[in-house]
Amino acid sequence: MITLLRNPKQIISIDSNGKNCKRGKEMHDIGLLLEHSILLENGKIKSIIHNSEIENSQFQSEINLTNKIVLPGFVECHTHTAFSGSRAEEFKFKLNGVSYEDISKRGGGITNTMNAVRNSSFDELIKLIKPRIDYFISQGITTLEIKSGYGLSFYDEIKLLQVIKELNKICKIDIIPTFLGAHTFPPEYKNDNDKYIDLIINELIPYVANHNLAKFCDVFCESTAFSAKQTEIIFKEAVKNGLKLKLHTEQFNSIGGLEVGIKMSATSVDHLEVLQDHQIELFKTSDTTAVLLPGVSFFLDYEYAPARKLIEANAIVALATDFNPGSSHISNFQLIMSLAAIKMKMTIEEILSAVTINAAKALDISESVGSIEIGKNADFSVFDAIDYSEIIYNVGKNLNVMTIKKGEVIYEA
Ligand code: NIG
Ligand code: FE
Repeated sequence: MITLLRNPKQIISIDSNGKNCKRGKEMHDIGLLLEHSILLENGKIKSIIHNSEIENSQFQSEINLTNKIVLPGFVECHTHTAFSGSRAEEFKFKLNGVSYEDISKRGGGITNTMNAVRNSSFDELIKLIKPRIDYFISQGITTLEIKSGYGLSFYDEIKLLQVIKELNKICKIDIIPTFLGAHTFPPEYKNDNDKYIDLIINELIPYVANHNLAKFCDVFCESTAFSAKQTEIIFKEAVKNGLKLKLHTEQFNSIGGLEVGIKMSATSVDHLEVLQDHQIELFKTSDTTAVLLPGVSFFLDYEYAPARKLIEANAIVALATDFNPGSSHISNFQLIMSLAAIKMKMTIEEILSAVTINAAKALDISESVGSIEIGKNADFSVFDAIDYSEIIYNVGKNLNVMTIKKGEVIYEA
């Protein structure tokens, strides 16, 4: 069946001319189309035609988008949505001036959530996480990355990845799973870090890869977590097992993680709040996407990643919420986009490229999603606005009225 998306006021195509990412200045070009409509077939984009070329014989069903703005479905490329428990108590400490790193040194932080996850059953986790995914869908998100990383034992990491796999089956969007066993050292290995790394490389990674439980392996490279050397050891094993790489790095300290990530061609390096000027050069020609997470800077009230410098250096820049219980308890995508504009000085056009084609690039799926180009998946977000800038101008307000996944309307306001 062929479906017509008729007469939207604006199509923000994010056309990449087949390059499937936007670097530096290219991020400014969002491929605005007026007076056009889109034909879909078998869940894919069949053609984009001028309204004057529409003939009734061309399609069997239609969705009228008059006065609406249509964008590619948003891609949320960095989240820790699979958690249970609450860290509201820690939030109170934080408001009283205790730092995120100090909370983690006192045994709070990730370990706190780990305890909650270990005490949650598979079914409890599904029940808790599913509505969070529905909230993302209501904001126009059609592809969502979710990391493990709160189990930190063989049993609980696999449990979390199985929960994510099940959610991918029952939710109407694509969920991309990432294995983050190397999130922090769990208490039982505090005095024997090497033994935990052995568990990751000898047992977890092979199991995760053999059972197709994750596409990516991620590591938190930080002075309170994994060193650059340990990151490299884990990454080598991940690559050997066919996993692609992601990295949390340069969040609080610059300890060599970024260099390992770029050298090993990680698909993305994420955070970068404390990126040094001399490191920006590394992105000039690199295919690794820089994923920036302004919600973390806002939530923890510290510096923002140098988005402008990265864009001026021709980097591929993406944006994400980093939704998690400790450092960015924010699942409002609209707020993240507005923070990127107001605090990181990204232009509205750069932001729209960052949450579509470049976020897809950060998940290594930009050949099939992230822009409105012929042959790509028919994934769309539809906004009730007079101009695309309204999406970011309306801080924290959801103007998305329809989410379409592979040609099917999966959410309507
Ligand atoms: O991306 N940096 C490490 N991990 C998460 C936070 C996890 C947590 O505090 O629960 C992050 O910021
Ligand atoms: Fe994160």
